[in-house]
Amino acid sequence: MTTTSEDQLANSTNEASLQRTRARSEQIDLAIAEDPSRFRVLTGDRPTGRLHLGHYFGTLRNRVVLQDRGVDTWVVIADYQVITDRDVVGPLRERVLGLVTDYLAAGLDPERTTIFTHSSVPALNQLMLPFLSLVTESELHRNPTVKAELEATDGRAMSGLLLTYPVHQAADILFCKANLVPVGQDQLPHLEQTRLIAQRFDRRYGRAEQDHPVFPRPDALLSAATHVLGTDGVKMSKSRGNTIELAMTADETAKALRKAKTDADRVITYDPEHRPEVSNLLLMASLATGEAPEAIAERIGDKGAGTLKAVVTEALNEMLAPIRARRAELAGDEAYLLDVLHAGNEKANERADRTLHEVREAMHMIY
Ligand code: TRP
Repeated sequence: MTTTSEDQLANSTNEASLQRTRARSEQIDLAIAEDPSRFRVLTGDRPTGRLHLGHYFGTLRNRVVLQDRGVDTWVVIADYQVITDRDVVGPLRERVLGLVTDYLAAGLDPERTTIFTHSSVPALNQLMLPFLSLVTESELHRNPTVKAELEATDGRAMSGLLLTYPVHQAADILFCKANLVPVGQDQLPHLEQTRLIAQRFDRRYGRAEQDHPVFPRPDALLSAATHVLGTDGVKMSKSRGNTIELAMTADETAKALRKAKTDADRVITYDPEHRPEVSNLLLMASLATGEAPEAIAERIGDKGAGTLKAVVTEALNEMLAPIRARRAELAGDEAYLLDVLHAGNEKANERADRTLHEVREAMHMIY
């Protein structure tokens, strides 16, 4: 493949900026240890299905750690984002409550973490209007995540909401003045867009000069990459049927792992590049137990894939057992789940109303 000098420039600046973001994430990590009260985290999920191990190791477990380190944590269940790329919302209410269940079962504590649905927070959504005036149409068309989402919709025409969803996501982050957003690499352009919106708002309405900004400039917190793959060795996703969901039983987990793809070499080694399937199983066991994947591989040695699968099954089921027990308990208590959501929505509304008031003040729209 040939690359033009323009591509090379883009790649090298991306690589350089990625390195800067990584370095900054490490600094932030130290700053959290020193004083967690300086930070507010906002993160979220679309309620499109049940959470699986990809979510758990990729994001959910990190959120619980941040909460437990004393960072004020906010989690948006992004229900409006579901309609960016589909006409039918599906069993949305059930999925939202399912997410609340997964969050609580995994260890998010509603006393310390604010869990809310953004459709329940009108003032958050109203921020979309001034924010939209601060971005250009071509900027939105260039957003790599929007482009990727568009490709994933299989040639279907792009809705206005899909095109503008990075702006909506900026409202999710800025309404509560979060200054830290744990993200994967793919969401970095959104964060850049969010910072631009914050900066442009404060400039346009004279807050930058007065040194009295309405909004923070949120940072990304890049998590150390713990991307587990599906049981077939490619990206874990529901549509591929290769997931292990938090809500599965121990037997269902064992069954899913028995079907997992491996290779012909009986000697088990950790070699993600040449043996992605075997290495992914080792990685899952490692993430569940804290033992290095190489050490697990060594112990299995030439006992083959059958033994490897048994080891992974046991490790995952042991880690998931308390989460599943708590999940089962919570799933039967819809009233409690709704209480949690209502309390989170109330807190989010208070915060959003205050921020919108400040925004209107800055815009001279208080009558
Ligand atoms: N887009 C995110 C996802 O698909 C969910 C989300 C919505 C989000 N609003 C957010 C994530 C704000 C971080 C910050 O998973």
